Amino acid sequence: MKPRYEIDLTSPVPVPDVENAFARSVTRDDLDSLARLMLDAYVGTIDYEGEDLEGAVDEVRSYLDHRPLLQHSFVAELGGEIASAVLVSLLDNTPFIGYVMTLRAHKGEGLAQLMTTSSMSSLAEDGHRNIVLYITEGNKPSEALFRSVGAVPTPGR
Ligand SMILES: CC(C)(COP(=O)(O)OP(=O)(O)OC[C@H]1O[C@@H](n2cnc3c(N)ncnc32)[C@H](O)[C@@H]1OP(=O)(O)O)[C@@H](O)C(=O)NCCC(=O)NCCS
Repeated sequence: MKPRYEIDLTSPVPVPDVENAFARSVTRDDLDSLARLMLDAYVGTIDYEGEDLEGAVDEVRSYLDHRPLLQHSFVAELGGEIASAVLVSLLDNTPFIGYVMTLRAHKGEGLAQLMTTSSMSSLAEDGHRNIVLYITEGNKPSEALFRSVGAVPTPGR
């Protein structure tokens, strides 16, 4: 089960500071780094489906091929490597968070919150009013992350 959630963007979005982390928009040159991040972040979690690096590259490539909103998708660089990212695309003309992920070594440092709120703020500035996302039932870190940035369950839409 993957319940649907929405985040309302009509109120101001505070973006936290995370020490030494530099947030910037995603570019197509990030493909390989994003795939390495994806593999490291998802292995061992409820959403891991046995992908290897090649599978992760395919997944990022597929994201890049399907209406990605690169300017509203973010990576966090920490000591020269990408430690966290949020990938947003357009789904039925609404911004959709397809992936948010943090390197295992840097989980719990507020990076995903930095990524998600950076994206929310950027989308709000661009006139978007909400974001849609789906969370696998039982993905506790993801539920906690999205609760902390104001996502609410919106079943049946
Ligand atoms: C979900 C994920 C992106 C969170 O990344 P993170 O950088 O560790 O998250 P943050 O440090 O920004 O934490 C954000 C909030 O979630 C909470 N949180 C994060 N991990 C948690 C955990 N394992 N248990 C309970 N709460 C957790 C934090 O306490 C924080 O809330 P708070 O500000 O109220 O304290 C990360 O666990 C991950 O990469 N998981 C694998 C990929 C995945 O499942 N992505 C989501 C589906 S697309």
